[in-house]
Order: sequence, then structure tokens, then C-alpha cells
Amino acid sequence: MTDETSPGDSVRPLRWRDGAMELLDQRLLPGEVRWVRITSAAEAARAIQDMVVRGAPAIGLAAAYGVVLAAGQAYDASASQWRHAIETDLETLRNARPTAANLRWAIGYMQTGFPALTGDPRAALLAQARDLHQADIAANRHMGRLGAALLDKGGVLTHCNAGSLATGGYGTALGVVRAGFAAGLIGNVFVGETRPWLQGARLTTWELLQDGIPVTLLADSAAATLMRDGCVRWIIVGADRIAANGDVANKIGTYALAVLARHHGVRLMVVAPTSTFDPATDSGADIPIEQRDGAELRQSARTVVVPAQAGILNPVFDVTPAELVDVMVTEKGVLRAPYEGGIQRLFPGV
Ligand code: MRU
Repeated sequence: MTDETSPGDSVRPLRWRDGAMELLDQRLLPGEVRWVRITSAAEAARAIQDMVVRGAPAIGLAAAYGVVLAAGQAYDASASQWRHAIETDLETLRNARPTAANLRWAIGYMQTGFPALTGDPRAALLAQARDLHQADIAANRHMGRLGAALLDKGGVLTHCNAGSLATGGYGTALGVVRAGFAAGLIGNVFVGETRPWLQGARLTTWELLQDGIPVTLLADSAAATLMRDGCVRWIIVGADRIAANGDVANKIGTYALAVLARHHGVRLMVVAPTSTFDPATDSGADIPIEQRDGAELRQSARTVVVPAQAGILNPVFDVTPAELVDVMVTEKGVLRAPYEGGIQRLFPGV
């Protein structure tokens, strides 16, 4: 079962139940644990847009289950023309968020199954989405082991939430944290609050505490002081898209941490499955950066804290140049700078 959990890995952000997708509503955590039932492709796209589910691999999986829902709707509308009828829904899903490579990758992967299907496509596509979900968790466990093997004893700092909540389960950056903590290698896990949506403060703290891993929250602006004081050996983050030259798009603030890390002799580890790599995009300059509604900055816990006349700039991702990344951990192995050659070997012929 794709949503099976175990001690130390108890959180799942999505599951399939009785013909529908259920999403753990990440807008409400940590105050409330509520599952939202998604029964159509349009609802899936809206849930991705509104961040009911978020994190690059998790939105890819939500889109994959969304394809199952879309195919069912298209088949009911036209049993012979469902491959044509599904196109609008697929386009809506693809455009739900612009930056993460996994979203389009997962939809493309689901489409590879279309030609062989006969009759009602639901059961076969559901099996395909479940396989994808299972493979994501297995990849995360493998990356966890690979990444933990690189750690020396000491504190780590992570940013945003690249954990179970952001993937099929176990997490990318937090997978390394889980494996490193289990091996006794990690003294302190620090996490920046990750303004403005507070993925670090609300989600990473909650997720790690569910699994008994102590975590310390800091204001994003405290990271420099923490590094200067020698409290952090590694910064461990996930990624939304990695370009052919190794530039990494990830949650806004990652670039600042990377610059600080280089100044203070702290190393930066990016943990991401190959579905996050986009070898067709030359460099970070070509990665679309999502701008979200200014209300995310204007309000805090639904209370307005900014004068209404103030302009708002809310880019939610940034690009860290490849030269600031010390190591990339994928499910196919560890890459080191210069990254272009290693990425080309992962994607021959692209
Ligand atoms: O806006 P979000 O919360 O979807 O952003 C998530 C991140 O930036 C994560 O670090 C990234 O998707 C990797 S998750 C394994």
C-alpha cells in the first residue's frame, strides 16, 4: 500500500480512498489535521494552486491521481474519444503551478500509459499512479541513505518543507534528516520559518515532531548568526526544478542561505529525485518563478499586518547558481560540481 507508514515515517500528504484522492490540508497544519476529498481533475488543480498540497514531488503525485480522475470523467463523457476529451483537464493540471518540474513530468508519465489502454482506463491508471507514489517513497528512502552517508556529526539547517508532506512520503531533504538522525549523526535540526507561507514554522516542525525528531525554529534572518557561531555543518534542502547546468530553483530564501553558507564554510546539499531535473532547460535564468498573491505577505494568520497602500512583491522561489551547491543527491547517485556532465549522463539524448 502506498500510504503505509512506519515508526519514524508516520506522515503522508495524500492517499486514494474509495474512488477519490484525499489530501491532508496543509493550509491548516499544525492547528488542524483535516483530509480533503478530491473527486475531479478541476478540484485537484485547484487544490494544487491553493496549496492544500504543496512541494514538488507531492504536487506531481496529486496531478497523477488527478489524471485518474480526469480519465474517468472523460471516459464517462465519451468512451471512444476519452483520450481527446481529457486534454483540457490535463492542461489545467499542468498549469496549476509553474515552477516545479515534477508536475509536468508526472502528467507526462501518466500519458505514456494511454496508448495501451482498452475499455475503462480508471483501474490501469490508478495502478500506474500508485506505482509512481510507491517509487517516490522508495527513491526518498534511498536518497536518505546516500545523503546521510555524507554527513559528519553536527547541526543541520533546512529550509521550507522538503519532507513527507512535500513528497509521497519520507521526504527528500527531511529523508536525509530522518536517516541521519537515526544514525546518530545529527545534533540539532534547525529550520527557518520560511516567510511568508511558513512551511518551515508550520509544517517541518510538525512533521519532524510527529516522528520524535527534535527541531529548533529560527527566524529566516537568524541563519547568518547561526552559521557564524558554528552551529551548522550542512544546509540540506530540496528543489523544485534543476536546470541542465545544475542551477537549482527552490523555495525563496534558498539562494540567500547558499551565499551565507559559502561565506561561512558551511556545505549545501540539494536532495532531489530525477523527476525534479529539467534537462531541457539550459539554466536557472529560464526557469519560471511563481509570483503568488500579495495577501500571503500582507496578512499573518489572517490578520492584516501591512498598510493597504504598500506594494507587495511575492516571488516564492529563487535560483541558486550551481557553483554554490556542494553536492546533489538523487535516487540514481550523488552528483558533484561541475554538474553539467553528471546531469547529461542521467539524461542521455536530451
Ligand atoms: O511553495 P511550496 O511549498 O510548494 O515550495 C516547496 C519547496 O520549495 C520545496 O523545497 C521543494 O518543492 C522540494 S519538496 C521535496
